[in-house]
Parts: sequence; C-alpha cells; structure tokens
Amino acid sequence: MSLHILRTTTPKRRVPDDQLGFGHVFTDHMLLMDYAPDVGWHDARIEPYGPFALEPSTIVFHYGQAVFDGLKAFRTASGDVRLFRPQRHLRRLNTSAARVCIPPIDETFTLQALKELVRLDADWVPRTPGCSLYMRPTLIATDPALGVHPSRTYRFFVIVSPVGAYYPEGFKPIKILVEDRHVRAVSGGLGAAKTPANYAASLLAAEEAQAKGFTQVLWLDGIAHRYIEEVGSMNIFFVIDDELVTPPLEGSILDGVTRDSVIALAQNWGLRVAERRIGIDDILAAHGAGKLTEVFGTGTAAVISPVCELYYKAHTIVINNRKVGPVTQKIYEALTSIQQGLTPDLYGWMVSVLG
Ligand code: COI
Repeated sequence: MSLHILRTTTPKRRVPDDQLGFGHVFTDHMLLMDYAPDVGWHDARIEPYGPFALEPSTIVFHYGQAVFDGLKAFRTASGDVRLFRPQRHLRRLNTSAARVCIPPIDETFTLQALKELVRLDADWVPRTPGCSLYMRPTLIATDPALGVHPSRTYRFFVIVSPVGAYYPEGFKPIKILVEDRHVRAVSGGLGAAKTPANYAASLLAAEEAQAKGFTQVLWLDGIAHRYIEEVGSMNIFFVIDDELVTPPLEGSILDGVTRDSVIALAQNWGLRVAERRIGIDDILAAHGAGKLTEVFGTGTAAVISPVCELYYKAHTIVINNRKVGPVTQKIYEALTSIQQGLTPDLYGWMVSVLG
C-alpha cells in the first residue's frame, strides 16, 4: 500500500512545553486509513489535522465498536526522535481489535506510516525532559446502521499530541481510594482490550473518588471484590518483603507495555518479581506487618506514578511515609533515561523515526 501525503499549508503555533498538560494540543497532521470488505485496508494518507464527518447513525457512536492505543516518541540529546516499543503497541492494538471484531491492520506498514507522520511533525516533539509526543492510534466502526452486529467498514486514524505529565502531581506520590462498589471489568469481558467502554466504566468511580480528595481509584476484581486489578488507567505494582508483585494477566487486566518494561528491568537487576493474585486483605496484612514498602502505577501516559496512601473501608494505609521509595525511583530513572536516550537501550525498545 502506498501512503499519500498532503501537507498543511497553515502550520499551527507551537505551545511552550511548560503549558502542555496532557492531550489538549494536537500537531499539524494525522494519519488515516479506511477498511471495506472488498478491498481491505486502503487509502492510507497523511492529512492536516482536522475534523471528519460521520453520519449520526455510525455504529461507533451507538455500540462503541472501537479500540485505541497510546504510544510515545522522545527527542534524544543528539536530536534523533525515537518511538518507545511501537511494535508492541501495534500488536496490542490488533489484539484489542480482535476482541471487538475489528479487522487487523498491517503492523509493518503502519509502523512505517507512523514514522513518516512523526518525521513530518518532528518540530512538535518537546525538548523538555518529562515531556514527549503522545500518539493515539484508533480504530472505529463506520457503518451507518443501527443493527447490533460488527460493522463492515472501519476507519483507522492516528492523532499526535505533545504532552507533559499526565497527572498534575507529576512524579509525586498520589492518594488512592480502594473502590469496593463499582468494578472496571470482569474476566471474560473487555478488560484486557484497550476499548473505550473500559474507560467509560471507570468515570463515575473516578469522579466520586476525586470529590473525596483522591487522585484515582484502585480497582478490585468484579466477582470477589477482593483481588487487586489496576489503579486508575494504570497497572499496579507493590514492593512486599523486597519482592515486586503485580497482578497476573488473566483477562480483565490490560497487558501494559510499561508494565512489561518494568518487569524486564527489575528481573534484569536481579529483583524478585511475581505476577500473582493479591487480595486487598493481603495488602492490609503486609502493611500491618511492616512489609509493604512501596506501591506504584505504570502506564504509557503517566509512566511511573508513586502511590503514598491507600484508603479502604476506613483504613488508611500510608506507604513509605508518603515518600517515593527506592525501587520506584530506580525504575522511573531507568525507564525515562532509556526513553530519552541517556543510557544504552539494552532491550531494543527504542525505534528511530529516521530508520
Ligand atoms: C496510557 O497510559 O497511554 C493510557 O492509555 C491511559 C489513558 C491516557 C487512557
């Protein structure tokens, strides 16, 4: 497939890095591709960023047949621009798509098209450490029809946003409410797919938690309301008795790329790492015994987010005197140094847009 490029004739003004926040500013261009059953994915093109028209009957508006992913590009000190683990993100996009009957995209072609998009908008890649270029590949069902069945036609698009920290707190410990009423996902449902419904399901609990002064919620499993799943829109890690523990991927939890990277780093350092079920009662017990020393969330948007307090049924669990712990700090520094090209990338995670 060829990629048609239409450059903007009216480039936008850049926003200073310290005013970016997360996901408010969009670059000059976007990538698009369409799907029809007779021709498959076709008409790959880069165009000026802007609205596109869809009929109000379009399936995605009614039944949410859509998936997305999120990945980042970083500018290195030598001026190169590199994507963080793009192949793994595109593979996950296709895995998510399969769960909601969306036909897969060609990952190799799409990676080349993504690089072209970032090369075109390279001026938008922030220069400030802690900032990056966030890409949002998205697949939506586009048939204008109200019957509940998979769409025949689809659109793929990638929009690009220069971003700062996801949480206004930045790399500061956050307070988390353990959610014991609403659930995000159940095994066999959509939790492992990056589909908008999961995020819609999270909104009410997050609003209620924020009204009580918490940044986000800790999700428990949908059946026993006991096992820990995710934190906000991130995966979660605990340091208990010098072991790094995270819940296993059993169908209701997203297979986070940052989660996978943290596990790889920790194992490489010789830390004990366990992917195992852990109940909120186990967390209370470990805290009571003085063995729970650190808690942090991981995600592409927030990278590493230290947790200083968990609140559960009138118990307040204060972690590490509300300070960032040594494992959290070491992981944050290792990951962000690789992303910024400050330390060698032993894992082959960074992909230059020039290659
Ligand atoms: C990410 O970490 O990239 C996410 O998808 C979380 C959120 C911005 C949806």
